[in-house]
Amino acid sequence: MSTTATANSLPSASFPVRRMDFSFAETKKYWWSDEPFMTQFMNNLSSLFPHGEMFFVNSVRAVRDRITDPQLKKDISAFIGQEAMHSKEHATYNEYAAAHGIDLEKLDLRIKVLLEWVTKVTTKKQRLAATCALEHFTATMAEQLLKREDLTTQIDDPKMYQLWMWHAIEENEHKAVCYDAYQAIGGGYFTRTISMMITTVIFLSVLGWFQLHLLRKDGQLFNGRAWKRGLTTLFSPRNGFFTKLIGPYLDYYRPGFHPFDHETKALEQTWRQRLGFSN
Ligand SMILES: [Fe+2]
Ligand SMILES: [Fe+2]
Repeated sequence: MSTTATANSLPSASFPVRRMDFSFAETKKYWWSDEPFMTQFMNNLSSLFPHGEMFFVNSVRAVRDRITDPQLKKDISAFIGQEAMHSKEHATYNEYAAAHGIDLEKLDLRIKVLLEWVTKVTTKKQRLAATCALEHFTATMAEQLLKREDLTTQIDDPKMYQLWMWHAIEENEHKAVCYDAYQAIGGGYFTRTISMMITTVIFLSVLGWFQLHLLRKDGQLFNGRAWKRGLTTLFSPRNGFFTKLIGPYLDYYRPGFHPFDHETKALEQTWRQRLGFSN
């Protein structure tokens, strides 16, 4: 794995673009604590990224020429670099899945078709608002991964651990870029929050659909023990992964909300050091 930052080409962006090159050839099938449900849940999330992240890139690229703030322009370039790298590495992830008979490319293709349709029926501003909404999901989910060692110590594979924690750091590093671009082009509260509502329905429906599909194809659909453990991890009232997202999610609807209201700078720094990143 290489972690060379392109600091020379982007001297003043607020965060670097790290070049990564993962291989998952050694990764076992159930790399999350030997659990089918949670492994397939993470596979499910990963299947959204190759085309999802390119949708984010295209949404921001479409308004880039309307941005005048020099710092934001540089951060947009770095954002595009980070998201393009996430897209590439999560496409590599599909090779791990294929080696174990898990067809993520089919799901990947469904996302492509869905996003092509979204692109046809929406305006540039609406797509940027949808991207802001999804960036809020990725940032808050990533923040939780960075904070929850009770969860991340269940990742049994070193490459998967590095991939998810690298991605989690960068989602927080760049979490304000789309939001700032949206505000810079005159995006307002109404479109932002309506887009979040619509995006939430689509995002959760896709996650549920893909989860059932992956468990069914894996012969785990009626594995009660796997469901019990998985649902507890995701929805336990005390510390379920989704339960803990409710507060940060609702905060997005607050007038005056900004992604940096959720302070994660120290957390990012801790994890940069842990993964051995020089910046
Ligand atoms: Fe990403
Ligand atoms: Fe992102």
